[in-house]
Amino acid sequence: MKRFLSGVQPSGLPHLGNYFGAIAMHLALAQEGEAYWFIADLHALTSLKDAARLREMTREIAVTYLALGLDPQRTVFWRQSDVPEVTEVAWLLSSVTGMGLLERGHSYKDKLAHGVTPNVGLFYYPVLMAADILCFDADEVPVGKDQIQHVEFAQDMGGAFDAAYCPTFKRPEWRMSPTPRVLGLDGQKMSKSYGNALWIFEEGKALNKALGKLPTDSRPPSEPKEPEGMLLFEWLKLLLAPAEYEQLCTRARAGGEQGPGYGELKQRLAAAMDERFGAAREERKRLLANPQHVDGVLADGARRASAVARAVRDRAYKACGLR
Ligand code: ADP
Ligand code: TRP
Repeated sequence: MKRFLSGVQPSGLPHLGNYFGAIAMHLALAQEGEAYWFIADLHALTSLKDAARLREMTREIAVTYLALGLDPQRTVFWRQSDVPEVTEVAWLLSSVTGMGLLERGHSYKDKLAHGVTPNVGLFYYPVLMAADILCFDADEVPVGKDQIQHVEFAQDMGGAFDAAYCPTFKRPEWRMSPTPRVLGLDGQKMSKSYGNALWIFEEGKALNKALGKLPTDSRPPSEPKEPEGMLLFEWLKLLLAPAEYEQLCTRARAGGEQGPGYGELKQRLAAAMDERFGAAREERKRLLANPQHVDGVLADGARRASAVARAVRDRAYKACGLR
């Protein structure tokens, strides 16, 4: 049975891009093999400097996964900082990793290009991520496109350690999400940092207000339109059953009396958000009111994750002469 592992940074409220690009795939993979998901709170420290917000967002991520149906029996689900072995292994990996490798990191270079003043943690981040992966003998790491290089770095670092000492780490492969790029309200890639994201649990007036911002044009419903490339249709495609989506496209292309108006389409989208996320939204509220339960799930996950990470850490310590 394959072991899947991935981490999610608690850096903001989960949006449609996070859901379709990552969370939905994580939940589905738990049916296919052993699932190891963690909340990457140590990683979040490289950019987030607000203790209360880090605590709040860590809880949000935990509650989101549980509300969407994560089964804590089938899945090992924990908070990264509860398993400190990964930071120990990260140090071992850093000592077999050339500066040049990290300097080639797309994500790091991209942050610099956006004017971020880098701290050492940001530069070192791929080493910690490699340890996250290698400490659990993961077979596959489901990630978004932007993280593929980091998994390749983990392959390189594990390989370099093995070559320097003896076979120690399992080589992980990456797996890309089937929906790698969800567009945001402004037509760019949806991201917390671009202010164009829609929280998956948005509801009522706030949801309608957000959907109201989806760009449309002044063509009347009767004018035939090509749905391909229209943001409104892209979002409908994600949320509706294929048959219903095709029917809407056919109506849009034909136009005339049956041509759908933008108002109707936005209403359908709001209803589709309720259908997809409504039950989980309520479950999220129940879970937020029961923090002991959530803490218990994370503590149990940390216990199970530690058992695996400790064995790998011991293997690596022994390999390099620390024991
Ligand atoms: P953000 O860009 O909002 O900060 P993160 O970088 O924290 O998002 O991404 C968390 C996960 O969600 C990653 O696996 C990433 O690939 C995925 N993801 C983020 N935005 C999108 C998007 N617009 N489309 C598809 N997947 C996305
Ligand atoms: N770097 C990932 C992101 O920003 C999160 C992450 C940390 C991760 N450690 C990981 C993902 C290990 C996969 C495996 O999205």
